[in-house]
Amino acid sequence: MNRISMARPSWDDEMRQAAVATLDSLHWVKGPQGKAFGKEFSEYCNAVQGTPCQSGSVALWGALRLLEIGPGDEVLVPSLTYIATATCVSLVGATPVFVDVEPDHWCLDLDALEAARTPQTKAVIAVHLFGQMCDDALPTWCQQHGIAYIEDAAQAHGAVAGSGIKAGGIGDVACFSFFPSKNLAVGGEGGMMVTRREDLAARMDALVNHGRDQRLESHELGSNLRMSEVSAAIGRIQLKRLEGWLARRRTIADRYAEAFQGLPGVVVPEVRPATEHAWHQYCLLVDEPEHLRNILEEANIDSRVYYATPIHRQQVYAGHEQFNTTLPVTDAIAHRLVAVPVHHQMTDDEVQRVIDAVVASTR
Ligand SMILES: Cc1ncc(COP(=O)(O)O)c(C=O)c1O
Repeated sequence: MNRISMARPSWDDEMRQAAVATLDSLHWVKGPQGKAFGKEFSEYCNAVQGTPCQSGSVALWGALRLLEIGPGDEVLVPSLTYIATATCVSLVGATPVFVDVEPDHWCLDLDALEAARTPQTKAVIAVHLFGQMCDDALPTWCQQHGIAYIEDAAQAHGAVAGSGIKAGGIGDVACFSFFPSKNLAVGGEGGMMVTRREDLAARMDALVNHGRDQRLESHELGSNLRMSEVSAAIGRIQLKRLEGWLARRRTIADRYAEAFQGLPGVVVPEVRPATEHAWHQYCLLVDEPEHLRNILEEANIDSRVYYATPIHRQQVYAGHEQFNTTLPVTDAIAHRLVAVPVHHQMTDDEVQRVIDAVVASTR
């Protein structure tokens, strides 16, 4: 019985040819592939500019630099997310303020944001967790209070908000990751900053290139954060496939929802009304995570817990004033969210094996 992994990136002849042709061109950096990938990806998100970079983590750091956030500033972030959502804030010298999530959709909670807002609050980093879009009320709330809205869309390529706008087209800046397990990959590490703001667009391209202009003069602090041309060439082909892959993920998620609804001790992920989920992860909220994971392991199926230790409780934040703070929803669910495979390359038989194992775990 083959192992069913959490992710299996696609790699086909068109991607292979694009990669080899780019290498053959000897134009390995700062070339036409990166420019085209940025343009095509931002058009896909309905934004005005996309700048490819080396990772989602770097994209988040870049977003904060673009918005001129630094020492003395506070940035509201969830604690139920990947570590990079918070560490980017610390890396620019600002303070991450950890905010609780919604009990049903597990994204940032509007009331909790309001409670955490201070005159120092300069931005919110809203994570479209597992591919679920954040509440449309969040960007509106940010606008009302003069707070920047950064989308951490690392897990949400192709997710659609209730407003009909895709992830990436909503925030002042949005950040994507192309790590191999993500819904879109580039044959290595990779990320993208996207903006719908004309005033940030030119600076965004410069930021990944030491803040330099055409005459190679630096205007602001940046670094070499550029994506390689080979990665961009692969990403462009993957982008053409993305909608088809998302459709497959949604079909699998529908089958899971039907099969898992009503199982004792299992809460099925709820899709926010009127939105389209990107199903980067399919997480079940379960009473007995270890038991479910053991049964999956016996059936040779991968699983993960997201996120066993909320960020505010991780050692890197031992000196943070919220280290021992209770975030009631986050603390209650973090260690109970078990992700099962939902990637686009799963066969129907593999989907059935996951279903059988989850159902068996509840008997
Ligand atoms: C929510 C979230 N933010 C940021 C990142 C960072 O992306 P990368 O791994 O490409 O640096 C990830 C990647 O796992 C993520 O899931």
